Amino acid sequence: MGVMGDSIQVQKGLEGVVADTTAVSLVDGENGRLYYRGRPIEALIKHTFAEVLHLVVFGELPDRERLQEVEEYLWNAGRLPPELATSLRELARHGEHPMATLQAIAPLLALEPPAVSLGRSPLEEEGLIVAARLPAAIALIHAALEDHSERPYPSSRRYGERFLQLMHGVTPTPEQVTAFEVTQILQLDHSFNAGTFAARVVSSTLAPPSSALSAAIGALYGPLHGGADQHALEMALEVGSPQQAESFVANCLATGRLVMGMGHREYRVVDPRARVIRATAQQIAKSGQPKQLFEVLVAIDEAFVEQTRTRKRALRANLEFYKGVVYLALDIPKELFTACFAAARIFGWVAHVVEQRQDNRLIRPTALYVGPPPQPA
Ligand SMILES: CC(C)(COP(=O)(O)OP(=O)(O)OC[C@H]1O[C@@H](n2cnc3c(N)ncnc32)[C@H](O)[C@@H]1OP(=O)(O)O)[C@@H](O)C(=O)NCCC(=O)NCCS
Repeated sequence: MGVMGDSIQVQKGLEGVVADTTAVSLVDGENGRLYYRGRPIEALIKHTFAEVLHLVVFGELPDRERLQEVEEYLWNAGRLPPELATSLRELARHGEHPMATLQAIAPLLALEPPAVSLGRSPLEEEGLIVAARLPAAIALIHAALEDHSERPYPSSRRYGERFLQLMHGVTPTPEQVTAFEVTQILQLDHSFNAGTFAARVVSSTLAPPSSALSAAIGALYGPLHGGADQHALEMALEVGSPQQAESFVANCLATGRLVMGMGHREYRVVDPRARVIRATAQQIAKSGQPKQLFEVLVAIDEAFVEQTRTRKRALRANLEFYKGVVYLALDIPKELFTACFAAARIFGWVAHVVEQRQDNRLIRPTALYVGPPPQPA
């Protein structure tokens, strides 16, 4: 449907539009708070990633027994069936950006369901299979891009340990596992962001969950959304030293170039995830390039805040700004940052796909028609 007329207000970017209800997460943009199922992220980062994804997907933190069951499921379901691995290997060899490869493969990741099940609805199980297989898919793309041999499937049931072992073939330190899982926890869900909304739009058409997840990966890829993580780090590389930060920011603001990792549609104060991730980055980036880039980012952050001080709407670092330093310190190449983001956010997407379908109505907004006047038939 389209409409015509002068009095109609168009909400560009759907800003401020309340499109539906959700019980998954709450973004309190005025006060800079983020809650999953009512629990603040500052408390949740003390838990493991598997515990928090359980909260996001199933609505409550698991007890010990349930946690073991879910960890066992993720370990089992997370192993790529051989034929799927072959298809992915061939796709990855084309050298496309990992997010393009992941978007292409996502619907296929649900094929050949594992022998294990969590006894959920077929809709939810399909989403969980894709989510469980994403780390192995990312590690396989990594191996293809870097031309190194694929790692054997690790026996660890701990999500972060297995992920890093899949990537690097060595057992990470407890500090590395914690830094990785904290980062992943912060990325689990964020209400009706573009990727999640894309997933809900597709799900509202009754398309399979794997198609909804594929669409969400496509949306997350964009530099205004998840892709900002890679772009923020590339910006730090371009700036090179803290001394260059002030003139770089001034130049960006004078020419309309975006400073990647800054600003947010919802937050009017500091993004609470950015505060945690900055501290994590500082802790883990102890030396070498990660430490140096962290210092460059701090200088860009300070210069940006100073030079945008008089704006009515405060612009501050978002989650993407310091995240790359954490990933880089964990030896994850920048081309895989957004894919690692997807590996966490996909659990939020699964929760939203399920929520959408529990009380579904086709998502189909209206446009104000501004084309040539309609002609007689
Ligand atoms: C996140 C983002 C898309 C939010 O966009 P939005 O809600 O549409 O905000 P607007 O574009 O209306 O921003 C308001 C003003 O701040 C400016 N602004 C916003 N983010 C900026 C940034 N990162 N660098 C420079 N200027 C920025 C806009 O140009 C605009 O200026 P104007 O009023 O002179 O036109 C935007 O801040 C951005 O592009 N940030 C960089 C990409 C990024 O980090 N994305 C990850 C988000 S988690």
